[in-house]
Amino acid sequence: TVRKLLLLPGDGIGKETMAEVRKFIVAMNDKFNAGFETEEGLVGGSAYDAHGVAISEEDMAKAMAADAVLFGAVGGPKWDSVPYDVRPEAGLLRLRKDLALFANLRPAICYPALATASSLKPEVVEGLDILIVRELTGGVYFGSPKEIIDLGNGQKRGIDTQVYDTYEIERISAVAFELARTRKNKVCSMEKRNVMKSGVLWNEVVTATHKAKFSDVQLEHMLADAGGMQLVRWPKQFDVIVTDNLFGDMLSDIASMLTGSLGMLPSASLGAPDATTGKRKAMYEPVHGSAPDIAGQGIANPIAMIASFAMCLRYSFNMITEADNLERAIANVLEQGIRTGDIMAEGAKKVGTTEMGDAILAE
Ligand code: NAI
Ligand code: MG
Repeated sequence: TVRKLLLLPGDGIGKETMAEVRKFIVAMNDKFNAGFETEEGLVGGSAYDAHGVAISEEDMAKAMAADAVLFGAVGGPKWDSVPYDVRPEAGLLRLRKDLALFANLRPAICYPALATASSLKPEVVEGLDILIVRELTGGVYFGSPKEIIDLGNGQKRGIDTQVYDTYEIERISAVAFELARTRKNKVCSMEKRNVMKSGVLWNEVVTATHKAKFSDVQLEHMLADAGGMQLVRWPKQFDVIVTDNLFGDMLSDIASMLTGSLGMLPSASLGAPDATTGKRKAMYEPVHGSAPDIAGQGIANPIAMIASFAMCLRYSFNMITEADNLERAIANVLEQGIRTGDIMAEGAKKVGTTEMGDAILAE
């Protein structure tokens, strides 16, 4: 099998953390004949410097042709004043839009060795492994009308519109149910049907999708505000949470803080399955940004990027054993007390980006 990857390191620590992922790709090709074919491209400030755009058409074409895109991070003070439509983030938004990545997967995993780094009590988070599935291309961030109207009496009105169609809710809930089947077989859907029409429809469509195709999966509904409370009270009650764009944005940020550092958090964004091959377009990226404050110093934590690659193995290539092994290697290295600065603890051994990557690779 040929497995086509596009690597887009981007800016700042994106370049440093992607360098660690390259080691795993090379090792898997050499030792296990994994068949990865990689291409490289520029995105964000790096693309702007080279081509005057946030991503070139040539690199967009490579992204469309790849089985999966690995994305580092974009942005930095150097590009703070470039024109709006070619700012670094525009590259990320273009990728999400053109690849039609409607499902954003954010796991919140608490490695036992880091349980005390969480903002919650260790017993609440130790062994936590939940997955938030956020709808990414619809809802209030995109619905129209979206505008500020001058009411003429010294008052203005800001308007955003929450819009969801049946098909959008069907496809995101199908992703959540499918993923649950590979995990603890439990989905909790969150909306606010008590005050929102889109919430009523969300609840109806998730229920119907469940009944039609996924009745083997355990389904629960929760109001999103209560869900936020439960996430902080006892997060281990959840397996997969499926929710809309706005609630998903907030709930996944809340969940991320259960686990420790920003440098630990991976994510995946998936598109619809191709009609003939059944393959989904996909992009994998750490949750963190380009960290200009530490870029170029070789001290960034590469785990979020490496764990994003593990998600790529799992979701784009169905390499479940390999993904499990990679995640276990990360856990083991943390267990051994090897730490980058952001997750440093008393008595641990402080290492840089390359040493952390090497330690995980060796493991
Ligand atoms: P950031 O995530 O880059 O950094 C926040 C803080 O966390 C910094 O103190 C940083 O040093 C630390 N940090 C982040 N990742 C780390 C890692 N792997 N290891 C160790 N420490 C880590 O967010 P910030 O500072 O708000 O934004 C910096 C730039 O990144 C901006 O230009 C912003 O627009 C961009 N950004 C890009 C994103 C992306 O490409 N997806 C996401 C978020 C921000
Ligand atoms: Mg957010």
